[in-house]
Amino acid sequence: MRTTVGIIGAGPAGLLLARLLHNAGIDSVVLETRDRAYVEQRQRAGILEQGTVDVLREAGAAARMDREGIGHDGIELRFDRRRHRVDFPALTGGRSVMVYAQTEVCKDLIALQLAAGGPLLFEAEALAVEGAETQSPRVRFRHQGREDVLACDYVVGCDGSWGVARKAVPADVSRVFERTYPFGWLGILADVPPSHDELVYARHDRGFALLSMRSPTVTRAYLQVPAGTDAADWGDEEIWDELDRRLETDDPAWTLKRGPITSKSVTPMRSHVHEPMRHGRVFLAGDAAHIVPPTGAKGLNLAVGDVVTFARALAEYRETGSDARLEAYSETCLRRVWQAERFSYAMTTMLHRAPEATPFDDRIQLAQLDRIASSRSADADLAESYTGFPLD
Ligand code: FAD
Ligand code: DHB
Repeated sequence: MRTTVGIIGAGPAGLLLARLLHNAGIDSVVLETRDRAYVEQRQRAGILEQGTVDVLREAGAAARMDREGIGHDGIELRFDRRRHRVDFPALTGGRSVMVYAQTEVCKDLIALQLAAGGPLLFEAEALAVEGAETQSPRVRFRHQGREDVLACDYVVGCDGSWGVARKAVPADVSRVFERTYPFGWLGILADVPPSHDELVYARHDRGFALLSMRSPTVTRAYLQVPAGTDAADWGDEEIWDELDRRLETDDPAWTLKRGPITSKSVTPMRSHVHEPMRHGRVFLAGDAAHIVPPTGAKGLNLAVGDVVTFARALAEYRETGSDARLEAYSETCLRRVWQAERFSYAMTTMLHRAPEATPFDDRIQLAQLDRIASSRSADADLAESYTGFPLD
């Protein structure tokens, strides 16, 4: 099998890349180790930055998002029983975000790819990437019980944090920057309308809580829990009671709506960057190259930024013969990646209570939040970072 761009992984990064390349007249093959149902149901991100929304529209993949997505012009911060709303358009010159689940983005992109696009093979596991330093790198993979080889001009590893593409970068060239946090998120989906019309990020002495949504009838919420927690250890009423406590305010008008919980899982939290993001003709994109803790809602959006950068660079090379943008891929992406790492780390440390936190640490967190609530420039800094960093 032969193609111009071999894409490993059909998460948001790989699927969007296939779409962008198809639109630019460049052929690709996507290899995905899981089956279609698994990829379409894996619960993850929920917030699309303005730039991601724009890219999906330009790619012709936004028809359902524009019907069913929910535009959000702000978030609420809760701390010390107070409420502060961050008004995105007012603070950023008109930018906002959209609530539209990653599962739905993936379903839309899969449908487009299968209707008009290059091959997308499910249950096709990439085993190794070879020949990164040659003109024709190869992906060895297993599909329907048989081993095969995909010969490519370029390979893009969109295979997430446990993928194989990263191994194509020799150990003496790779650098890894990492931080793990002593807590994770217990995430739930519940069949109950959201209790607030925007997302609520709460800092509480008992730990962080986040109130989000998936639709006008489905609530998504998260609780900070100790690393290693088993979701089954939490009873449904216990989860609602804890959300109630951590979201408390002095405003008697606000109440938490409870309903049947339909899914429960725990996500560990870490920051991780693999440099460089390119070796020869093998490129890394999305979680294959970097992980952020979810507090800033940046992971999916960063993945989108990487594949847009690659697709534009390759299109430019084919149109003009200049490979300057392809050569600069890693540097270009990493600038944005480190801004997202910085923001996600800052949001995480400001809003979560570390097990070893002292009363001094608590006061510093409250002072940071009070600063955002009382200074327009601090408020605007958060709004700019949350709504997204520019693509180029
Ligand atoms: P993935 O989605 O991980 O896709 C990689 C794909 O590669 C998978 O389908 C995998 O099966 C496949 N694969 C792996 N190995 C192989 C192989 N050897 N061969 C073939 N295929 C392979 N981000 C946001 O922007 N906003 C949010 O609000 C947000 N919230 C989140 C909440 C939670 C609870 C979690 C866990 C994450 C959240 N994220 C959020 C992060 C976001 O989900 C990820 O950053 C995003 O999925 C990255 O996309 P990706 O395509 O790079 O990787
Ligand atoms: C969601 C996830 C996030 O990480 C976040 O910061 C906001 C919302 C969500 O899944 O809805």
